[in-house]
Amino acid sequence: MIKAIFLDYTGTILREDCWQMKEVQRRVCAASTCRDEDHLLARFHAHLKDWEAQSVGATYRDADEVVTCTFRSLGEEISMTEDIPSLMKLMRSFWADGAFFPDVAPFFALCSLPIYVISNNGEGYVARAMAKHGLNPAGLVCADHVRAYKPARSLFERALEVSGCRPEEVLHVGDSYDSDVTGARSAGIRPILLQRKGGPARADVTTISSLTHLIPLLKEERKHDSMKYYKILFSPTGGTKKAADILMHSLCREAVQVDLMDREADFGAIPFAAEDVCLVAVPSFGGRVPVPAAQRLAKMEGNGARVILMTVYGNRHYDDTLVELEDLLSQAGFRPVAGVAALAEHSMDRRFAQGRPDAADQAELEAFGRTIRQRLEAGEYPAPALPGNRPYKDMPPLLSKPLATEDCGQCGQCAEVCPVGAIDPENAANTNADLCASCMACTTVCANGRQVPAPIMEKLSAMLEKVCQGRKENELF
Ligand SMILES: Cc1cc2nc3c(=O)[nH]c(=O)nc-3n(C[C@H](O)[C@H](O)[C@H](O)COP(=O)(O)O)c2cc1C
Ligand code: SF4
Ligand code: SF4
Repeated sequence: MIKAIFLDYTGTILREDCWQMKEVQRRVCAASTCRDEDHLLARFHAHLKDWEAQSVGATYRDADEVVTCTFRSLGEEISMTEDIPSLMKLMRSFWADGAFFPDVAPFFALCSLPIYVISNNGEGYVARAMAKHGLNPAGLVCADHVRAYKPARSLFERALEVSGCRPEEVLHVGDSYDSDVTGARSAGIRPILLQRKGGPARADVTTISSLTHLIPLLKEERKHDSMKYYKILFSPTGGTKKAADILMHSLCREAVQVDLMDREADFGAIPFAAEDVCLVAVPSFGGRVPVPAAQRLAKMEGNGARVILMTVYGNRHYDDTLVELEDLLSQAGFRPVAGVAALAEHSMDRRFAQGRPDAADQAELEAFGRTIRQRLEAGEYPAPALPGNRPYKDMPPLLSKPLATEDCGQCGQCAEVCPVGAIDPENAANTNADLCASCMACTTVCANGRQVPAPIMEKLSAMLEKVCQGRKENELF
């Protein structure tokens, strides 16, 4: 839940085109080799950023000193003869008495959340200007407080401390991508870029053209507060779950878990809502969605919930699994927003994709999660372009049907985990081969007591050896 707004000062609240800055530009241009005011402004900012970057901790200079140094180094570059103290007088007047943008007062009036001003400028100037305009921010956090300038993370962390908020409870709004967006992100805060005059389109950040546009955005956020994440898994031997957990962890902290292995659950009764985000992850069996998972997904009512489609496979291929998943879930009323194909050990023969998902997979799946999160934040979901064919390939006959061995002690555990009730709980030797989905869940809970008969396993292994070679890569669609 968003509990506070952080707001940049210069360029966001304070107009940089006010008379003091115009007078500075006029005087510098008149007394230097630079005649172009736009070029002058660009060079001023370049020198300013250099001095700010050098000014940290023991070498910290306050904003007056940094801007004085800026005029000095810029002055050398353009042979400026203008008197620096008189320029600094104008700068101080700009910081403390400059004009505010016309949307600032309406925003303060309309925003019901506390607003903290986060500025590279001296606290005295900012406080005086805010008071002069009759605006009462909940707090001011300035570079002097942490002896570092934006985009320093410490400035944003101090603001979190002062506001008592966690990073995910705050939005930082500012007009500079390099200072505001980069700085806020470094502290885990979601940035909003203010571009009043337009500017380069940025796909990776929410952009607004007026501060008052934040008000509907905050209303939208409040709706999202009731949003739930769901992790919906069919994972007989745990590989699908491993990969899905990594992806989900980079999307949200908590998710409601739905276990598609559960043969008793009423999947039609889950109250999905349009603002929810679901991850549906299934293994690829013969390049298709496993039948019990497909049957259970078809019973759900998505009610417009957004869904990330994920298939996990064992280093052969997933063929039509993603398109089948897309069709199943679209028909069930979900909105697909992304597709992921990931790797995990082959559950029939663990020599293939051995050790996966590994550290490299983890980094890649986390990056996928961040990209998906940005898509969700941007609120734009073009249908993902998923590989696969319609009509789907025929499901090949699944030959790997495990049976009880002579080591079976009749404990009943395999019958409990079987997603289709193919094993007699009273006698594990009785297995209904027609029901068995070859999922390997029973062999995972009991490696000695249940096995695929050796001659069949040998054939399958030889076949897999031909088609599971090389390292296949995770994919995001
Ligand atoms: C019956 C069956 C069929 C499978 N078919 C494929 C396949 O077509 N392509 C592939 O790459 N892996 C295939 N696999 C491997 C699984 O997709 C992979 O091991 C997956 O991670 C298993 O998920 P789990 O660990 O959650 O059970 C198959 C596994 C089983 C048991
Ligand atoms: S096969 Fe294994 S899990 Fe199943 S009943 Fe026998 S001992 Fe228990
Ligand atoms: S009997 Fe078949 S369906 Fe049941 S757990 Fe074993 S492999 Fe899976």
